[in-house]
Amino acid sequence: MTATAPGKIILVGEHAVVYGRPAIAAPVWQCVATATIQAAAPGSGCTLYAHDTGQQLRLGEGLAEEPLAIVARLALAQLGLDRPDWQIDLRSDIPIASGLGSGAALSTALVRAIFRQAGCEVDPATLSALVYESERFYHGTPSGIDNTVVAYGQPIWFLKGAALQPFHPGCALTIVIADSGVRSPTKETVGDVRTGWLQDPARYEAIFDAIGETVVQARLAMERGDLPGLGALLDANQSWLEELAVSSVLLRRLIEVARNAGALGAKLSGGGRGGNVIALVDAAAVDRVCAAFTAAGAARVLVTRIE
Ligand code: MEV
Repeated sequence: MTATAPGKIILVGEHAVVYGRPAIAAPVWQCVATATIQAAAPGSGCTLYAHDTGQQLRLGEGLAEEPLAIVARLALAQLGLDRPDWQIDLRSDIPIASGLGSGAALSTALVRAIFRQAGCEVDPATLSALVYESERFYHGTPSGIDNTVVAYGQPIWFLKGAALQPFHPGCALTIVIADSGVRSPTKETVGDVRTGWLQDPARYEAIFDAIGETVVQARLAMERGDLPGLGALLDANQSWLEELAVSSVLLRRLIEVARNAGALGAKLSGGGRGGNVIALVDAAAVDRVCAAFTAAGAARVLVTRIE
């Protein structure tokens, strides 16, 4: 039994979304996590092999802090199963700690495969809620946006605590994604932003408000089909992320390279300080921006469409 789940990008609104402002996110099907389950020898129990990290987890042996073991146990409990004799193999080509939601995608593929192996399909709301439990270990205080966009597998307008709104931009967007190659756990940047917010709530709340307003304006620009306007809003969002100190010299350089190559706007995506940057491009600039990212040393370049 096999199941997959996509990576994701945050188009606009990361970090502020943790503090109740809206954000827009989309799945990235060009990189996926895959879970495969097969029956194992009777009495052998349930073992999970996470091939990309070399982890081997035997369910039922402690593992209280292991996000994948936690989510597997929760899914099995929901199905009324207690450690079936299964071998679970997890693989992913989503870079880890890069803002592309690798943790959420692995957990999503895992839960989906467990339900399928038990003979049923998990609905997206149940799936998202289960994956959220593992996100708490990856992120500390997650907004819930990653598990939601990955579990539903469609673009979303996300507001913490509000009913999910699927989201379709008025026009198709072409996004070039470049991996800086620098790993940066989301838990750290989210934690640093929280520390700053606790020290100076007024300043941080004002930045979150500005990011929230940028997200609202981005939605309106998409509904108008105003790609240059949307590009400028991505740039504005990046400036606010700089104020939150979650960017880096390398990310800034990649962003500048993309803008110089004709991108309509560019920003970091996800937790920041490393990981991926995204650039909004029109069809004519796709190859130029991809080549510019590669020449600037990006570890990997992907092109995705949001529609
Ligand atoms: C991570 O993809 C997005 C952040 O806003 C964290 C979160 O929303 O949980 C940085």
